[in-house]
Amino acid sequence: MQKQFLPLASAFLLAASASAQSLGSSSSSQASAAFPLYDEPYRPQYHFSPPMHFMNDPNGLVYFNGTYHLYYQYNPTQLVAGNQAWGHAVSTDLIHWQNAVPQIAIPEAITGPLAGQIFTGSAVVDSNNTSGFFTGHPGQALVAIYTLNQPTREVQNVAYSLDNGYTYTNYSGNPVLNHGNNPNFRDPKVFYYAPTNTWVMSVALPRAHQVLFYTSLNLKDWTLVSTFGPAGVEGYQWECPNLFPVPVQGTAETKWVLMVGINPGAPQGGSIDQYFVGTFDGTTFTADDTAARVMDFGKDFYAAQTYNNDPLGRTIVVGWMSNWQYTQVVPTTPWRGVYTLPRVLSVLPSQNQTQTGSLLVQTPISLNDLHDQTLFDGSAELGTGASLSVPLKGNSSFEFETTLVAQPTSGQLQQRLNIDISNSAGEKVTVGYDWSQGQVFVNRGQTKGFSNPFFTNKFSVWEANADNSIKLHVFVDRSTLEVFVDNGIQVCSTSFYMLSGPPTNLQFTAENDDVTVQSLTAYSLKSIWR
Ligand code: FRU
Repeated sequence: MQKQFLPLASAFLLAASASAQSLGSSSSSQASAAFPLYDEPYRPQYHFSPPMHFMNDPNGLVYFNGTYHLYYQYNPTQLVAGNQAWGHAVSTDLIHWQNAVPQIAIPEAITGPLAGQIFTGSAVVDSNNTSGFFTGHPGQALVAIYTLNQPTREVQNVAYSLDNGYTYTNYSGNPVLNHGNNPNFRDPKVFYYAPTNTWVMSVALPRAHQVLFYTSLNLKDWTLVSTFGPAGVEGYQWECPNLFPVPVQGTAETKWVLMVGINPGAPQGGSIDQYFVGTFDGTTFTADDTAARVMDFGKDFYAAQTYNNDPLGRTIVVGWMSNWQYTQVVPTTPWRGVYTLPRVLSVLPSQNQTQTGSLLVQTPISLNDLHDQTLFDGSAELGTGASLSVPLKGNSSFEFETTLVAQPTSGQLQQRLNIDISNSAGEKVTVGYDWSQGQVFVNRGQTKGFSNPFFTNKFSVWEANADNSIKLHVFVDRSTLEVFVDNGIQVCSTSFYMLSGPPTNLQFTAENDDVTVQSLTAYSLKSIWR
């Protein structure tokens, strides 16, 4: 019962409901009517972004009673980080999102014993009432575990919801975890480990490059059971650890993956998530090898979190599609921050692992329900210098899937295929494949909407198949690009900013030798906001 509201946040909520009234909305449509129309330049049409102000990490991803909850690190009053609270949106299908009312599920606490900011954390479904929070409240079960960031220390708090996750009440015994008043001790991710009927928490000791594992029977009393790290890429800090099981494709086997953020110090610069694949026995995570692997070969994938309690038993990850190097100055307004598409995770069986050892596979959830116009469905033979052009009719937010093949001429593979995604002013983002190198590349440099020394342009990854084919599944959403290579063995997530409007054309051009576009399907996608 120690919940505190920041006055500015309350003012924001009042403004949101006032605008709902001025639009003459009924209470049933208030959730959507209270917020902007999501049609500003750069505004993603089928990815989640907050109505206004600054968003960073996904928090408290949990499914409960038919609803996927998406909480998020949020500054409710400014376009830069600060006054951190938990914003809130809900979905029944992980595609269509509705901004929740109230938008702030866990507000900042600026006075009293809870003085501090509500940093990243997770949410669980306490169906057996192990916490005791739900005595006398049948049907309620959501508990949030988050970091309270205070001027001199970071501690872990719990809070519970008696209204299906719309608002949370802080536990009177907070904090539940304090690591010697350490100023850097944050981002608890909790899940239920059924074999031992125990809650397990991973939490970062950022400057020590360590993940600490705690267990609990009641979400209030926690025991340190193991530590992991330093390992992989250390960078300056480790943040937002997540430990989760994933199926091994084509088998009944399960592997455990520990994902942890590096910030700054990512191989690409700034922040990125890395992961380790291994085993977990209820207390200790053991990595299979010491290799460092990153989740993404672009620059905009950070602080990702996996869903708890998915009804289909999937492990679904959502990442923040930005980078701390430039996220506070990107040219979007009145909001900053966008999330990746939810992606289902698995690993390849070891005999299928590629030389780069990229084991984790990310499969975007299907957007077939959003398909609007079919822009292309066919194949093409492209001679050297020849192009296939696909005008982007309808919404300029779209997806395409293609399989490309090249054959060697006199023993040599020298082809390159450029896929230009351009607007009428000639600004473009290029995705391509170079057979002579066996590498996928992405270039966001020929755009004019944003210039910054850290907003680097070009990314690439090695990925080659014995039959010289390559498969690309690409999602473009006004200012976001996600490229899934060979069914998600490699992924590139990037933001881009075209000054003269979103893309209007898709063009495939072969260089150096012939390329077969074995298949290409392209669809414009409906907005989830209208
Ligand atoms: C990661 C992070 C977390 C922290 C949160 C604060 O992006 O720095 O470690 O909890 O953001 O907003």
